[in-house]
Amino acid sequence: MLAIHGGAKVRDEPFPKRQLFGMREKNAVMELFDEAILTGDSIGYNGEQEREYEEGFVKFMGGGYADLVNSGTSALYVALGALNLPVGSEVVVPPITDPGGVMPVALLCQVPMVADADEGSFNTSAEKIEEVITPHTRAIVVAHIAGEPVDMDPVLELAKSYGIPIVEDCAQAHGARYKGKLVGTLGKIAAFSTMSGKHHATGPQGGVVFSRDAKLLTEAKRFADRGKPFGLETSTNVRAGLNLNGNELSAAIGRVQICRLREMIERRREIAQEIKGAISGLRGVHPGREAGGEGGVYWFMRFKVNTDVVNISKDDFAEAVKAEGIPVTNSYRHLPSESSWFTERCVFPGSDYPWGLPSYKGAIDRKFPCENAVKATEEHFILSIHEHFGSREISDIAEAFKKVESAYIN
Ligand SMILES: Cc1ncc(COP(=O)(O)O)c(C=O)c1O
Repeated sequence: MLAIHGGAKVRDEPFPKRQLFGMREKNAVMELFDEAILTGDSIGYNGEQEREYEEGFVKFMGGGYADLVNSGTSALYVALGALNLPVGSEVVVPPITDPGGVMPVALLCQVPMVADADEGSFNTSAEKIEEVITPHTRAIVVAHIAGEPVDMDPVLELAKSYGIPIVEDCAQAHGARYKGKLVGTLGKIAAFSTMSGKHHATGPQGGVVFSRDAKLLTEAKRFADRGKPFGLETSTNVRAGLNLNGNELSAAIGRVQICRLREMIERRREIAQEIKGAISGLRGVHPGREAGGEGGVYWFMRFKVNTDVVNISKDDFAEAVKAEGIPVTNSYRHLPSESSWFTERCVFPGSDYPWGLPSYKGAIDRKFPCENAVKATEEHFILSIHEHFGSREISDIAEAFKKVESAYIN
């Protein structure tokens, strides 16, 4: 009998915790405190720890330039700010993403234009991006949601044909590869979140801006630090910006974590493959279609419920799996086009800016129904996996899926 109907659960024990922070991170931070206590100097920012952390990050990315900032939202804000787009430009944004992956666009007085998802995917596609490109488009933000790479070649080709820069939001996708190339190296500039829920963390909150373009990254550094000149021959601050800097404590944690990233990702990829293999015989539930190939790093896994095969809704299927002791989540419904800040234009109080900006020349009332994105969120439930899942977790997941499927198969 299914656990949801009072039967025994497939799994009684909680799933293992991630154990992201350990003695090495603790020691790295303690060393900075020991030194501060010994010398009387304060712990600061933009110092040796940050330099070494950024070097480690760049090495992981196979070359380029990086700046540690204080969140993934800030990283995207800074990456876009580095492009110096004219106020009232349009920026294409992803259909499904964290609010921090879209709000920076509006806060920079750019109008977000939501590209729908590729069918069956949480990510957008070149075709869907082209549908929202207008003469006012000045940048495209693509997000590799769940760690699955966007199908980038057609997107890169499209962007090139229009001469529009791509900003990659890699908040969920550290180390993911598209046709062998690391995401974050494909567009003009990239933003990473390094908060403690992500593959790679620099502490409880953090973010990194990355680019292969030295000039652009220097501009990002300026914008992330109140417009300090950095390399320009002037002593004044050269543009208005916030203080979004990282700090030495975060960098010290990041230095430890970056050394583990490759191994962490490999393990997650192995686990995802094992889960896929273990449920490959099922017809009522299967992994979501990975539109950009199988180089993903699985921040979470998506599963599609085939309601032609099982006589139960996706939500009820997920509830039944959850009752078996498997920590799935019914839905990942984070659509910017459905958020009230977006639909009610709550960005700058007392105005409908950026949409209402006098310099905005686009279609102010354009709607973004995002039918594919809505359908994808309605058809998939999700499972957050991590590198400490073992064979027991994998077999319990598969067993629970099988048990629920066989209870409802047509
Ligand atoms: C795709 C995406 N973009 C941006 C962000 C914002 O990052 P942060 O929470 O570090 O500000 C997140 C966070 O989950 C995200 O998943």
